Amino acid sequence: MTKKELIQQVSLKTGFSEALVMKALASVLNSWTEALVAGDSIRLHDFGSFSSPLLSHQAEESKNTLPRQLVRFRPSGKLSRLIAGTQEVKETIIENINESTGGHMTDMPNSESHNPGQEADFFGLDVGTSRIVLASGEFNNVKTQTQLNAFVTVPYSKFTENILRQNKITYQMSGKEILIFGNESEKFANSFNVEARRPMYNGLLNPSEVNGWQIIQSIIELLVKKTKGPDILCFSVPGAPRGGEANLVYHEGMLKNFLEALGYRAKSVNEGLSVVFAEMEKDNFTGIGISCGGGMCNVCFAFMSVPVFSFSISKAGDYIDNAVAAVTSEVATRIRVIKEDSLDLSRNPKDKYESAMHIYYEEMILTLVETLRTEISESRNLPRLDRAIPIVLSGGTAKPKGFLEKFEKIFRQNDFPIKISEVRMASEPLTATARGCYIAAAYES
Ligand SMILES: Nc1ncnc2c1ncn2[C@@H]1O[C@H](COP(=O)(O)OP(=O)(O)OP(=O)(O)O)[C@@H](O)[C@H]1O
Ligand SMILES: [Mg+2]
Repeated sequence: MTKKELIQQVSLKTGFSEALVMKALASVLNSWTEALVAGDSIRLHDFGSFSSPLLSHQAEESKNTLPRQLVRFRPSGKLSRLIAGTQEVKETIIENINESTGGHMTDMPNSESHNPGQEADFFGLDVGTSRIVLASGEFNNVKTQTQLNAFVTVPYSKFTENILRQNKITYQMSGKEILIFGNESEKFANSFNVEARRPMYNGLLNPSEVNGWQIIQSIIELLVKKTKGPDILCFSVPGAPRGGEANLVYHEGMLKNFLEALGYRAKSVNEGLSVVFAEMEKDNFTGIGISCGGGMCNVCFAFMSVPVFSFSISKAGDYIDNAVAAVTSEVATRIRVIKEDSLDLSRNPKDKYESAMHIYYEEMILTLVETLRTEISESRNLPRLDRAIPIVLSGGTAKPKGFLEKFEKIFRQNDFPIKISEVRMASEPLTATARGCYIAAAYES
């Protein structure tokens, strides 16, 4: 049974909303985690007990015979007999469960008497260099919305302003210019044949765009509404680029303050880790999450949802566009369109643009795999893994046909320091980060 199925089943049986059950379960799991990490055991009458033998107070005395298990579960006598098939005990337990839930149910609030205004909603926000994605809605039915993280400027005239109003296009004034941002910016960039500009560069706020911060707030506000409720929002941040830690602190702080001013309890989540949250539930949140985006590739190795290490490289979609544009004397926007429309990495390149794209894609993947290899080899606190772990690929730059195969081919060229069970694509590569942030927000409650 997965956590999601458990929540659905409890909700069905008790009449409590799924959000409420999820909150209660998150809180129970938090308390259990805290107890186990502190070396305490958890004893559940008629069910069994959990303990963390390595951390328990007896561990010190029996150093020579330390148990290899991290967490041990001992079923109660009743549960053992039940599993072994003793019908009599089975009936007693079911009766007990019915009695206790029945007794409690009359005392506890049900979904109707619960004030929905007071129930926290969860949001995941992927603040990416090229796109901003919001994940929201019910836990078992998460919806996503996207805005391009870009803007164009057009000269101000009363006439243009009226046309924009009539067409319900949101814009902002800046001196004698009109700023058009979000999804509308692409249409204007194409029509005027100009490059759309970006409030972010390489995963962080772009200091050379004077209007950048103002624009990014406006784009976020197209997706995230002000709230008065106790709502929780997790937003993505990249892994610190080497030497760029201070810029990351600023980027994260500005976003957090802004989202808090909109009324949210806001918390940042590493982008690679959010891929793990979104895609590795069945792997016990253990594996390597990779997001290949516009500004950078983000990587996180997590063990049971805890990040072991994360990093980013600033070679991704934009790098490929610019590098290909430079060697083919084209503009980067045009290269991006060709790349997104027709690049197929599984077949031979058919013109000079594709040839160059293949070369830079390979170079990007090689840098990514080599940096990952080095990070693992140099990491001093690697967890002991008793089984092979997966790698999940996501992000817009991982979208072209043949990307997975190319990655695998480069990855298998050399030995890897840990055992990898499989390399797979995220279920929805463009929304994995936002969905992972949403899950992080749900667990924050
Ligand atoms: N079908 C496609 N084929 C190739 N590249 C694509 C495709 N769709 C999107 N991209 C590229 O993916 C990149 C955007 O990916 P994504 O939306 O994951 O990035 P981001 O999250 O905004 O950026 P970052 O995570 O780097 O800050 C762009 O470079 C875009 O050109
Ligand atoms: Mg991204």
